[in-house]
Amino acid sequence: MSKPYYITTPLYYVNDKPHIGHAYTNILCDTFARFHRFMGENVFFLTGTDEHGEKIDKTARAKGVDTQTFVDSMVPRFKELWAKLGIQYDFYIRTTDEDHKKSVQVILQKLFEKGDIYLGKYKGWYCTPCESFWTKMQLVEGKCPDCKRDVQEIFEDNYFFKLSKYQDWLIEYIEKNPDFIFPESRRNEILGFLKQPLEDLCISRPRTRLAWGIDIPFSKDHVVYVWFDALSNYISAIGYPGNMEEFELLWPANLHMVGKDILRQHTVYWPIMLKALDLEMPGTVFAHGWWTMEGAKVSKSVGNVVDPLELSAKYGVDTFRYFLLREVTLGSDGAYSEDLLIERFNKDLANDLGNLVLRTTSMLERYFGGKIKCVNSGPSKLKDQAFISRDAMIQAMKHFDPRAAISAIWDLIVAANRYVEETKPWALAKEKKIEELGKVLSDLLESVRFSGMMLAPFLPETSVKICGLFGSHPTPTVKDLDVWGVLKPGMTVQKGEALFPRIEEPKS
Ligand code: MSP
Repeated sequence: MSKPYYITTPLYYVNDKPHIGHAYTNILCDTFARFHRFMGENVFFLTGTDEHGEKIDKTARAKGVDTQTFVDSMVPRFKELWAKLGIQYDFYIRTTDEDHKKSVQVILQKLFEKGDIYLGKYKGWYCTPCESFWTKMQLVEGKCPDCKRDVQEIFEDNYFFKLSKYQDWLIEYIEKNPDFIFPESRRNEILGFLKQPLEDLCISRPRTRLAWGIDIPFSKDHVVYVWFDALSNYISAIGYPGNMEEFELLWPANLHMVGKDILRQHTVYWPIMLKALDLEMPGTVFAHGWWTMEGAKVSKSVGNVVDPLELSAKYGVDTFRYFLLREVTLGSDGAYSEDLLIERFNKDLANDLGNLVLRTTSMLERYFGGKIKCVNSGPSKLKDQAFISRDAMIQAMKHFDPRAAISAIWDLIVAANRYVEETKPWALAKEKKIEELGKVLSDLLESVRFSGMMLAPFLPETSVKICGLFGSHPTPTVKDLDVWGVLKPGMTVQKGEALFPRIEEPKS
């Protein structure tokens, strides 16, 4: 078996239910996963939840529940959302899984024996009322960033991971591998950060302060720092070190999709962890932007969350996916508003796509009882456009640009609508130009069929509906896009439903 395309999402913290930002990352990864399946590749798509650490422990305690019970109660919320959004992942990892914990311990032990982990002093500031430990950078005017009260300077015995030892290697690696970090502006940001000496990473927490974490095999007094635990998931989930056969088939990951706020962990800590373990580097770490509302990042702490379950129930999963993928170029921030979503819906989905499907299939029914009359074997500008769109869509996805990929599909949809206006099938019918009418309709319906297949990675539900009208395979692959002219005289095409009826005002 050839190496599957291995794609990962970050692991989401379970201290609250998922919001639009989390849904965005998973929709992006799902789109790439579907695209690679569409290209005929095997795909392994990993997602999951990050369940250790102080934040989660505190949230559980504030609710008066045992932390394990709390995290167990949160996981179904994530799984339910992924099911509703049609996210086709292959494995869901929880950092509280026994296999994951064992794997993290093996990793720690290896790095400890190699001398890359050592015991040192960790300096920080402690806020007694909040029971929070802060680094100097986190303090606000020397006070606790949460409650603004005084903090006490403390020193702790903790374990450190020797990032500094690998700094020169990492700089050289990033410089020699232009595909490792995208977009380029983020790559430059990381290279800029690496100009300063790298401090070693404190990878433990004293058990007296935080017990909710993975045990450190060489110290009964410490648990593992949550980032070291969480990053290891990308290899623990695929069998490292318990099932090396699976691991060797899947590793290295082709794509780690992450938000721009967690790029440093994925392009500094993580590659150094892998290097220290003598493992290969992942192909690409892509940092996407943030969804904002009225200028602020959508987040639980700001309190401006947008509920993806609610939105997809109101407007449909494909509408939600379409908006997120089409509104911004991958890598940039996007401003979310329901009005913008409705605008996109009415213009692109209702007027362009929905209208094309409905009007072409209705005309076939009206003029020819739903059966293809004849086909156009001569030159066809829609045929030319279909292949241009197909190639552009594929190229755009290979360059991590789903927005441009969708735009390429829309070039065909818009061209087909324009063709209806130019050829005026209703006039041809009136003038009894049956042969010409038959050819025009077959070209239009081929365009609909092509568009429906190309939409599979982006709008999966809509794609299945459109393919269904032609009796085609519900999960097309790129091979189906080799041929224009599958429709033959006598074949039936069903009349489509109104896929996206216009929305006049926000639904309540
Ligand atoms: N648990 C860590 C990741 C560990 S990965 C080994 C974490 N979790 S998180 O739940 O806070 O965030 C997960 C992802 O959601 C991040 O990639 C983050 O960028 C993304 N988003 C959270 N809010 C967001 C927006 N408002 N917009 C877009 N994505 C953002 O970090």
